[in-house]
Amino acid sequence: MNIAIDGPAGAGKSTVAGKVASRLEYVYIDTGSMYRALAWAVHNQGLPIADERTVSELLQHNQIRLVREGGQQHVYWNDTDVTAWIRTPEVSQYASIVASYGSVREQMLVLQRNLAKQGNVVMDGRDIGTHVLPDAEVKIFLTASIRERAERRWKELLAKGSQAQLADLEKEIAERDYRDMNREAAPLRQAEDAVLVDTTGMSIDEVVEKILQICERMGESAQ
Ligand code: CDP
Ligand code: CDP
Repeated sequence: MNIAIDGPAGAGKSTVAGKVASRLEYVYIDTGSMYRALAWAVHNQGLPIADERTVSELLQHNQIRLVREGGQQHVYWNDTDVTAWIRTPEVSQYASIVASYGSVREQMLVLQRNLAKQGNVVMDGRDIGTHVLPDAEVKIFLTASIRERAERRWKELLAKGSQAQLADLEKEIAERDYRDMNREAAPLRQAEDAVLVDTTGMSIDEVVEKILQICERMGESAQ
């Protein structure tokens, strides 16, 4: 069985997808980290983010790898572990720009389908249920109010010692959601056969249990 989890920024996709995967002993694949790794490389090399061809060629000539280390998923740009550098607000904005390019998405689609080939994966992103794994047995569209999603990110950053302002984060998330939902290539939207889970006011554990119940129901009806 494959499980696709999509939704806007801060909905809890990575946290919940990782926990669901470990409960089911599935492989977790964070597709956002792949767009982020490419965005990091563009930023780090000072390349023109507005030039689709430059960005697409950069991806073509380099390698993104997801590696499991110490129970955590790490993302590599060639031989460099970039995991710790891809969550900054600048890289987030760059990620949603590189993700708007059709030629980048085509390459990512091939990489991501390859990663899911062995089956029994939990993959999270924006277009997993609609494009990457349209035949996934379970599709979840995870969301929460924009205020709560911004607050979650804010608490996460404060815990890391950041001075981030809640209002700035809310603006950053709203801009990114708008770009993700309104791009031409594989925009963020709920697949017709996805189950909507609004996590506003729900704890991580409650969401994990809810998704496991949905998986059980879908798994039974698929048999
Ligand atoms: O991957 P996505 O952007 O959808 O969200 P995330 O990075 O998994 O979660 C964003 C933050 O919200 C993390 O700090 C989670 O621990 C937290 N979270 C939460 O407080 N309650 C939930 N129900 C889900 C996530
Ligand atoms: O954790 P958060 O939800 O903030 O972002 P992410 O899942 O790490 O994704 C970063 C950016 O990559 C998103 O804003 C999207 O623009 C893009 N993305 C995408 O277009 N398609 C995916 N399957 C995954 C991410």
